[in-house]
Amino acid sequence: MTKNSTSRADVDHARIFFMCCAALSLAIGVLVQATALAQNEDRVKAGLTTWRNSGCSDCHGAFADGEKQRDEAPSGANLRTTRLDAAALKQTISCGRPGTGMPAFDEGAYKVRACNGQALGPPPSDLYPTPRTLTPDEIDAVVMYLQARIVGKGRTITKQECLFYYADQPDWCDDYK
Ligand code: HEC
Repeated sequence: MTKNSTSRADVDHARIFFMCCAALSLAIGVLVQATALAQNEDRVKAGLTTWRNSGCSDCHGAFADGEKQRDEAPSGANLRTTRLDAAALKQTISCGRPGTGMPAFDEGAYKVRACNGQALGPPPSDLYPTPRTLTPDEIDAVVMYLQARIVGKGRTITKQECLFYYADQPDWCDDYK
């Protein structure tokens, strides 16, 4: 073998090796992304479960449009048209809004986790009583759910949205388009 042909073979090997690597890393990238998406979807579903179990819909309505489900509950805000970002959503759900009907869902709010930039201490006395408390992780999942399915979706609830919520009672969605 001449020196020349050896180096050409080397180049070919290098090229094949490079192409393999590129294809492999692309495949891994796609896989990682798909896994992340699936994990996000799981978190959104977990957030929906928390939303359902925490009395949010009593005051905000199933679709978070402010059409409360329990007559005697305070009327919650329309979260479909809220301007709050993830941090503000988390803060509101964790700390509640003293003096309004919005309870604080984080058991450690004010006491072990600061609220509204205040020093740690006893929670304000004019907080609406919470139906149940949530862990910071559960609150994060609710925020993910709200951002994925509620915030910015406008006033009109679509049949698809209704079916996502009432997957087990699809006939409740007959009136939606
Ligand atoms: C007892 C009634 C009640 C319950 C239960 C309740 N909320 Fe609220 N929520 C309210 C009221 C009332 C407001 C409006 C507060 C105000 O006047 O600023 C509000 C406001 C909010 C806001 C702020 C919206 C904005 O644009 O300023 C968010 C976010 C929110 N609620 C999320 C939730 C979530 C998530 C749950 C369940 C974990 C929940 N709420 C449970 C009554 C309730």
